[in-house]
Amino acid sequence: MKKNKNIEFNINNVGENITLYGWVQKKRDLGGIIFIDLRDKSGIIQLVVNPDSPIYSLAEQIKNEYVIKAFGEVMKRQEKNPNLKTGEIEVNVKELEIINESNEVPFQIEDDTTALEETRLKYRYLDLRRKSMQEKLRIRHQIMMATREFLDKEDFIEIETPILCKSTPEGARDFLIPSRISKGSFYALPQSPQIFKQLLMVGGMEKYFQIAKCFRDEDLRSDRQPEFTQIDMEMSFVDENDVMDISEKLIAHIFKKVKNIDIKLPLLKMKYDDAINNYGSDKPDLRFDLKIQDLTQVFNNTNFQIFKDVLNNGGIINGLLVKNTADQYSRKKLDKLTEVVKTYKASGLFNLKFLPEVTGSIKNNVTEEEIDSLKNTLNIENNDLLLIVAGEEKIVKTSLGALRNKLGEELDLIDKDEYNLLWITDFPSFEYSEEEQRYISSHHPFTAPKDEDIDKLINDKKHCYSKAYDIVINGYEAGGGSIRIHNSTVQKKMFDALELTEKDIKEKFGFFVEALKYGTPPHGGIAFGLDRLAMLLSKTENIKEVIAFPKTASAKDLMSLSPSPVESAQLSDLGIKIDD
Ligand code: AMO
Repeated sequence: MKKNKNIEFNINNVGENITLYGWVQKKRDLGGIIFIDLRDKSGIIQLVVNPDSPIYSLAEQIKNEYVIKAFGEVMKRQEKNPNLKTGEIEVNVKELEIINESNEVPFQIEDDTTALEETRLKYRYLDLRRKSMQEKLRIRHQIMMATREFLDKEDFIEIETPILCKSTPEGARDFLIPSRISKGSFYALPQSPQIFKQLLMVGGMEKYFQIAKCFRDEDLRSDRQPEFTQIDMEMSFVDENDVMDISEKLIAHIFKKVKNIDIKLPLLKMKYDDAINNYGSDKPDLRFDLKIQDLTQVFNNTNFQIFKDVLNNGGIINGLLVKNTADQYSRKKLDKLTEVVKTYKASGLFNLKFLPEVTGSIKNNVTEEEIDSLKNTLNIENNDLLLIVAGEEKIVKTSLGALRNKLGEELDLIDKDEYNLLWITDFPSFEYSEEEQRYISSHHPFTAPKDEDIDKLINDKKHCYSKAYDIVINGYEAGGGSIRIHNSTVQKKMFDALELTEKDIKEKFGFFVEALKYGTPPHGGIAFGLDRLAMLLSKTENIKEVIAFPKTASAKDLMSLSPSPVESAQLSDLGIKIDD
């Protein structure tokens, strides 16, 4: 049943007899003549059945999404359809076979579908028949192919690592698999192949990669799935720049291969602290400017009680100067922006409009001198809008970072055709967990601290920085990695810094600490989110669009209805009782 592609045929084939297979996209009956749009993976071609044809009554029975075989002659069309690749021809059907019937489909198989996402996920196999879905999965495939091609040339080898693992500390919650043979014991699904790839370096592999499935039981978002794929890499005898260098070459290769886009290398490198200071985010979208401005100095001697209290409590005052927009922002629109910063725990959003006379929510709270100082330091021009947040540093930065993104969208500051890539480097080793009331790893406990900060591991965690890096594309964290600790003394120090007891260490990753004692080479690596790269390259903001069978926000598969209860016999095999 070797089939041709529909779109292989064109005006040059007129007069030829051809055989086609595919699905019925649409059937129309025009004055007795039946027109069928026949769809296959390549596209659509028009079939025509005349009323005097012996197969006419069979054609009448055909409905949408039937699978058919048609044999007939390629003819020139009376009226061309410029929207179709095959728009200059049609096929006059002489023989017809209904290969398979179809129930009435729950939604029309077309690109601009209005079907609800739930319906599309329930009938994913029908959704996948849509051209736009096929294109997105093709892009995903091309990314994988380009990756394998590039890394193979660079002497990396692809090695699979286990899916049934020991639970390892990556930050998210593990998915657990009960063991039947060792009742009461569990495997964990890998959150990433982190420990295994480091062990491969101990094992002398030197250059590893894997297109790896990862599993994390965490809250889902538009760019997060419980089950996702990484392009995972690890190398021996490298420093941060070596890893970033090969990684950006890989990314540039992928962009060129998949989209024919030239990425200018080397990419910009920005320190974490600078990213937070200037953009309020460790994944700044630099497709538009709009930096956060530090106004703390300007208001050093302020009489405005709210600002005064903030400064007395060690807080900061920062703002965004939005050029030439003061007249666009009514009270109502400013209230909407206030809601944005409030979701990030800011107490409020103050504003000043320069029209050129100064108006705005705090115009009566600021002095002439402060206005002059603002004008001079920020180079304010007529119709500029200054949006201000005051408070604790982290809250001020993150809320203004979120506001910056909102304004970027709202004011159309983003060129959607552009790709902006950069590295964020010099991450802090630790972050303070309010919940646990202690410092926890920003990445994972195997991330090497900067050489000059090793002593700060114990005494000055706040100022201890690591050899970690993230790659950011259009405001998405597309990948991240680090140089690892390869020395067991430093690793011990790190565990102490994280207040892990000997017992914890032994139980959780004793085997790994043991391995570090056997001549571990210096090593480091990175993992890219394959799904996120596919999202970026297919210009979608919904990760489900680039995964053939994704889960919903509540981690369900609406098609197979998993997760689902299991037979009690299965549970008793595993020695598990479900608590009501
Ligand atoms: P990290 O946790 O930063 O690093 O993950 C690497 C990249 O994987 C993607 N990603 C996700 N994509 C979709 N859904 C998710 N739930 C999800 N979580 C992460 C992101 C992210 O940048 N072992 C380390 C890598 C290393 O150090 O080499 C790791 O997993 O694009």
